[in-house]
Amino acid sequence: MAVKITETILRDAHQSLIATRMTTEQMLPIIDKMDKVGYHSVECWGGATFDASLRFLKEDPWERLRKLRAGFKNTKLQMLFRGQNILGYNHYSDDVVEYFVQKSIANGIDIIRIFDCFNDLRNLGTAVKAANKEKGHAQIALSYTLGDAYTLDYWKDTARRIEEMGADSLCIKDMAGLLVPYEADRLVKALKEGTKLPIQLHTHYTSGVASMTYLKAVEAGCDIIDTAMSPFSMGTSQPATEVMVETFKGTEYDTGLDQTLLAEIADYFRPMQEEALKSGLLNPKVMGVNIKTLLYQVPGGMLSNLVSQLKEAHAEDKYYQVLEEIPRVRKDFGEPPLVTPSSQIVGTQAVLNVLQGERYKMITKESKKVLGGEFGQTIKPFNPEVQKKAIGATEPITCRPADKIAPQLAKFEEEIKEWKQQDEDVLSYALFPQVAIEFFKHRQAQQTKVDVNVADTKNQAYPV
Ligand code: CO
Repeated sequence: MAVKITETILRDAHQSLIATRMTTEQMLPIIDKMDKVGYHSVECWGGATFDASLRFLKEDPWERLRKLRAGFKNTKLQMLFRGQNILGYNHYSDDVVEYFVQKSIANGIDIIRIFDCFNDLRNLGTAVKAANKEKGHAQIALSYTLGDAYTLDYWKDTARRIEEMGADSLCIKDMAGLLVPYEADRLVKALKEGTKLPIQLHTHYTSGVASMTYLKAVEAGCDIIDTAMSPFSMGTSQPATEVMVETFKGTEYDTGLDQTLLAEIADYFRPMQEEALKSGLLNPKVMGVNIKTLLYQVPGGMLSNLVSQLKEAHAEDKYYQVLEEIPRVRKDFGEPPLVTPSSQIVGTQAVLNVLQGERYKMITKESKKVLGGEFGQTIKPFNPEVQKKAIGATEPITCRPADKIAPQLAKFEEEIKEWKQQDEDVLSYALFPQVAIEFFKHRQAQQTKVDVNVADTKNQAYPV
């Protein structure tokens, strides 16, 4: 059967390569052409794009979504959603999660890819139900990782439970590029035994095996793969769309996509890549193969964070010590996958453990939350000694963490009353309170400026 393609250039590709800095203005001129390709979907929203739009680009992410929706008349739009964390780094109450899903779909999203950094399915239920209710496509993503608890039986059983939860499809989310080709073959076959849902594979080129992994996965029955147009492909991004299309041409997996059209789209993005290289926004280092990601099982994004954290502390010589400490902290924390936000939490704790010269001498607030059960359950129990050090005699949470969070929406509405210009503003504020307020102030200043300009022109046109 023809393999389907999800294009990631408007979300993950620029998030992974150029710090999520592609602007709406840079996207709009090409979406008409992209709309003609016949992609299964275009991933264009969610993940870090929401935060980056508000914080760095001073853009309203909701406005971006509406503009993309208006341009993509024939293509499904897809977003990435962190379960009960939505697009933030903490757990939110169910009413906020439900409202976010409702507004995402109302503004143009078709497919919501929902994941949890611990694969604790209880953290996905609210978002999946909300997507079902709004008639959106709910895709549940398994955060792929390695470790002796992550057996094929575990993945297969999780796939079965995902189907029972009401998901419309399943994604293997391999954020670190740890899934090697022959393992992909075994994994896809195992998942197919566990579920009848369509299976999509998402990986990164970081470790250099990604396109081979796609080939083996597709041969094993994987239905959809995530790729990025060549100028923003490979490295810490996805395999190139054009290359995968060519790979399957003339076979039973032929995507049917038009290479000439894809070439025109690539021509549009290439100068953007060259510009990013020139300005330093795109570091050529992230375009290559980083084999350490396989050795230390650490996602590429986490490695670059690590380097900058150590640089700040003038302790770059501790790099390898920290790399060795990461798996130990991960083990103490119940061996979770390393993906936002667990990657940052484990990484920062590992840095502290090394820099302090004593493990867990200092424990971050976030580590305490993890060990107190506030992010949910990991595949293995926490190290009881480390847990005791972190939370003392406090009773850890064992229920679904959001059950402990009272509804928050009314309170957020109250807090932003004076800034509100659209319903969605409360959601921007809920996720990133300070950043959103800064943005609202900026937005208001821009509007006042425009008003003054209009008044000026009026005066000139109609002198009294
Ligand atoms: Co990704």
